[in-house]
Parts: sequence; structure tokens; C-alpha cells
Amino acid sequence: HGENGYNLWLRYKPVNSTSLKTEYRSYLNQIYFPSESDRLKAALDELNLGLNGLIGIKPQLLVRAQGSSVIATSNKIGALKKWVPDSVLKKIGNDGFVIKTINQAGRNVLLVTANSDLGILYGTFYLLKLMQTGKTLSGLDVVEYPRTMVRVLDHWDNPNRTVERGYAGFSIWNWHKLPGYIDSRYIDYARANASVGINGSVLNNVNASIQMLTPAYLVKIKALADAFRPYGIRVYLSVKFDSPIELGGLKTADPLDPEVIKWWKIKTDEIYSYIPDFGGFLVKANSEGQPGPQTYGRSHADGANMLGNALAPHHGIVMWRAFVYDDKVPDDRAKQAYNEFKPLDGQFNANVIIQVKSGPIDFQPREAFHPLFGALPNTSVMLELQLTQEYLGFSTHLVYEAPLFKECMDADTYRQGKNSTVARILEGVYNPKLITGMAGVANIGTDVNWCGHPFAQANWYAFGRLAWNPQASAAAIADDWLRMTFSSEKVFIDPMKREMLQSRENTVNYMTPLGLHHIMGASGHYGPGPWTDNMGRADWTAVYYHKADTAGIGFDRTKSGSNALGQYSPEVQAYFGNLNTCPDEYLLWFHHLSWQYKMRSGKTLWEEMVHHYYAGADSVKKMQQTWNSLRPYVDQERFSEVQQLMAVQYEEAIRWRNSCVLYFQTFSRQPIPVGYDRPE
Ligand code: GCU
Repeated sequence: HGENGYNLWLRYKPVNSTSLKTEYRSYLNQIYFPSESDRLKAALDELNLGLNGLIGIKPQLLVRAQGSSVIATSNKIGALKKWVPDSVLKKIGNDGFVIKTINQAGRNVLLVTANSDLGILYGTFYLLKLMQTGKTLSGLDVVEYPRTMVRVLDHWDNPNRTVERGYAGFSIWNWHKLPGYIDSRYIDYARANASVGINGSVLNNVNASIQMLTPAYLVKIKALADAFRPYGIRVYLSVKFDSPIELGGLKTADPLDPEVIKWWKIKTDEIYSYIPDFGGFLVKANSEGQPGPQTYGRSHADGANMLGNALAPHHGIVMWRAFVYDDKVPDDRAKQAYNEFKPLDGQFNANVIIQVKSGPIDFQPREAFHPLFGALPNTSVMLELQLTQEYLGFSTHLVYEAPLFKECMDADTYRQGKNSTVARILEGVYNPKLITGMAGVANIGTDVNWCGHPFAQANWYAFGRLAWNPQASAAAIADDWLRMTFSSEKVFIDPMKREMLQSRENTVNYMTPLGLHHIMGASGHYGPGPWTDNMGRADWTAVYYHKADTAGIGFDRTKSGSNALGQYSPEVQAYFGNLNTCPDEYLLWFHHLSWQYKMRSGKTLWEEMVHHYYAGADSVKKMQQTWNSLRPYVDQERFSEVQQLMAVQYEEAIRWRNSCVLYFQTFSRQPIPVGYDRPE
């Protein structure tokens, strides 16, 4: 594959700088890199591939450490061990690594070491990244380890290869040809994941098909697990809660029924007979029509623990989703997950982790952080992010999501005092007994460039980096990604990084400014649809969320309204509840305000809203101009692809702007402020 995006951020293009090239060669011409296991072989293969591309060498492999660079687990580094104190080895745990430049008999060499082969694999990718991003290898003292344990991609892939909310072609799992045919794409997928520390893959849709649990599919799943294993990736499956009925022929799926318990135990044992390191189950229960324990008068804890018991002897885990809502519950949909899960804190088994979306509605361009973060101090909780851009213009719009992810992760819950951010809760800072993790709903498909939009790859990349280290910055991640994926030229990086970092706010502006949400077209979720009503259930309609009328607009979630705000800590309640402190970005998420409401800017709410819609669309035009100016730094194929997609994005942004402004104007009954073109 050439410059069509297939190689993602692992392109390994020749290093331009002669001095860096010389330096890299001096460190890596000869190395001691023992590689007995499949995992170490994978690491060495990657190093060879990378060095061949970057600096055109194939390192000579020495049979022992003799004054050269060393890449080996800590039990193989002999006297070099003195450079790595036990306390450091303890700190990096199973997955971490150390990279150090050391002086050996007057010569500088590199030491890459870890406690496990997996650590060596991750360390090798890190070393390659340093070279891909043009960093010197002199004076290195890197100590890296992941802050979360379970770092998984959730594929919403169906057995027929359609992908729920997938915008990059069909499912990459070619079930028909498995298990006999291992597509090289599976290996490249595993490499890309390992390069950012992703260590798990949930293969199928949360709206799960029972087919995946049949022996015919288990052999195929085993083949994928075998292909991924060298890269440290475990496979998991989404399971349907009433599988004992649909697949097992039982009369019930009641989690307390002995036959049901037995059925899951036998099925789980069977899975492990194929895949000894199977990761576990992901479950969507009692949500959007899916069956679950509540169907039998039982709780989420009853259901999750029953599956947890079946998995525990094999060290598997249950990821139980908190994305639950039901139109039978006649309350603000944003409140339901907290209401159902908060009373169950402390009742979940040790191998159960609750998977919570960033916000309480559904992957909107902007939401307030989910009130369950920090509210379950005795329960393992992981964050679910959506890489596939269901509500962010699919794979047509350039939206770098790291700022969105960070906004949630940096939010202060105040549940354990000041600075008890979502990120720190995810890292398990307040309760070291818990399992920790992050899940990203994958944006991957059969498109040549994997994600549909060349820049959508950045969301996959950023997810992995943030799952490894929730404190990493969106800007630093964008910088690395741009260098590896496009070019290291400063004249390219600076303007394009700025555009990436701004891109999510642009999209919020032309779609859902000032805290608006869920006003996109019904069911498809692509274009604007603020007028959407009559969808069979209120909480699927836009009018339910924006509540616009001639008096005003916005969802009152304070005490005078649904009081969803009451689910947060007192500090957060005070902050969002008070109009003097509530940021403009969250205004209509929490408050219903008159069109004449005076904003901080001095504009009325109506004028401010119009301003955001226009600014959003204008910023896409600016992004197009930036991209056009960068033509000399980008290969023709990807340049033209992005250019064409941006043209579509601009048209869509105008459509969003015009539709929303004209629609809301029917309520505000105010003129379009001077200085803005009339929408058509
Ligand atoms: C969204 C999405 C559904 C998906 C659901 C989920 O509502 O539109 O397609 O099934 O999220 O996360 O379960």
C-alpha cells in the first residue's frame, strides 16, 4: 500500500535529518535483542520494519550484550540491571517499560527493558515513535506504564458484516473465510493497537447476536485470538442476556435460576476450551429493548454477578454497560443510569466493571460528564468513548475527538474532594482494589484507510494514548499523530495541529452550540433535525431535548425542572446550577432560558446562538483554506481525499447552520442579527 492511508501512523518514512539518521544508526546498527517468544518476535519484526523504513538498516543481532544497545526483559540484561532499580521495575508492572540511554565503556547505548515480553513490545513501539517523531535518543530516561488495566476497542460489528454506526465500510472480520484464512489486515490491526497500548478487542455489537456463541463461530473467534495474542490483545464478546433461552432452549434467562446459572457456566467453560486467555463479556442489558435481569425482576448486580461467577475461575471479566434507558420511565432520560446503578454500589463482584459513557445521554458533541463518575466508590467503573462519529458527522467531518474525551476526563467530580477528576477515578486512585479501564467504540471498517476519513484515524490513535495515560494532552497526541501520519515539517504541523484542536468546537458550534443536544436527524443522526417529533418515543425526538417555544429554549435540569443536576456533588450542582458560574457551553443542557436572556458577551441568547452557528460554519471554511495551503506537504492521494471531504463538511455545516437558525427563529421571532448573511 502506498499513500492511501492503509499504514496508519506506522508509515516509517525515511528520516530527513542527516544528523538524526546518523545518531539512530549509531544506536541501532547492532543490538542484543533475544526473541524466543512469538511476542518478542513480533517486537523484533516491528523494529526491523521500522528501521528499514526510517533509516534503511537491518540491525545486526548479537548473541549477548556486548557494549551495544539492549532490548530485553529485565531477567536477561545481566549487569545492566544496575541501571534499573527494583522500585522502577515494580512501578512499571506487567505492561510498562523503561528506555534509557546509558554510557557503557565510553560508548552511549540504549537499554529498553521491561518485566514482560509485552512490556518489550510496547517499549519497541515507543522507541520507534521517538524516531518517527524526530526525537533524539540521547539522554533518554523514559519510564512508562499504563494507568488503566482494560484498554479495549468495542466493535459494533454484526455477523453479516454490517457495522452498527459504522461509517468506514463493512466489518473487518471476514467470518466466512475464518478460521482458515487470516487476513493480513488482522495483523496490521493488532500492530496498530499494540503501538498505542490497546490490549483488548470486543469483536461484536453490543446489540449482540447469539450466533457468536455457537461452536461454528467460536472456532473463528479462536483463530482471531491466536492472531492477536502475540500483540497482547485479548478477545472479548458481547453477549445477549437471554442467550440461555434463544440458544439454550431454556424457558427463562433469570440470573438466579439454577439452570440458567449452569448454562452460562458450561458455555463459558466451552469458550475457554477454545481461547484460554479469553477476556470476558460485554453486556448491554435492559436498554433499548435488549433483554436483561430486570425482565425477571432482578437487578443489574444479579445479572452481572451471575456472569462474573461463570468467568471468575478463568480470570475473565464482565463489562456491564450503564447505558440504560427506557421510555416506560417517565423522567429525564439523563437520570436513569444513576438512578439504577447508584443504589447498587458495592454489590458487584470483583471481576465486574461498569462501563459508563462520557455523558448521560449518548455520545453528543458536548455533554456534561456522566454523574455516575465518582458516585460508585466501591465499584469498578470504566469510561466508554465513541470513536465512530455517530453524532459528529460520520466519517465525512474532520473532528479530532481528543478534546472531547479530555473534557470528560478532566471534569472535576468533587466526589473525593477538589481535583477528584474523572481521569483520577478511572485510574483507580481512590480505591486501588478496583479494576480500571477504558473502551472506545471502534471506527474501523474495510475502507482502505480503515476509518473512512484520513483524520478519523487520529481518534483511534488518541483513544489508545489516553487509555494508557488519561493525563496526556490532546495537543501532544495530535502532534505525534500528525508527524507519524503526515509530515514532521513544522510549517505543516503547527497550522494543522491548531485546526485539529479546534475541530471539535467547530462542530459543536455548527451542530449543537450552548449546551443543545440530540437535535440531529432522527435515527440516522447525521444532518440537522431539530424539528424531529413523533418518533414513537419522546426521548428519541429533538423537541424533547431542546424544548424551544416562544418563551425560550433549553432543558431545565435544575430543581425547578428534572433536577438531573441533583445527581452530582454539591460543588458541581452549585457550579452548573448558578447562571453566574455555569459556562456558556453547558447553558441549555441545564437551563431553560428566555430568548432575551443576556449572555456574558452582552448579546441576547438568540443573538449568541446565531453567532455560534455562523462561527462554526465559517471555521470549516478556514480549515479548508489551511488545508489548501498545505498541499506541498501532503501526498496527492490523501490531500485530495481530505480536500473533497472538507468540501462536503462545509456544505453540511451550512445546512446545519441554516436549518437550525431558521427553525429556532420560528420560536424566537427575532431577526437575524446584522452582519450575518440570511440563511436560505
Ligand atoms: C446509541 C446508538 C445505538 C447503540 C447505542 C448503544 O444509541 O445510536 O445504535 O446501540 O448507542 O450504545 O447501545
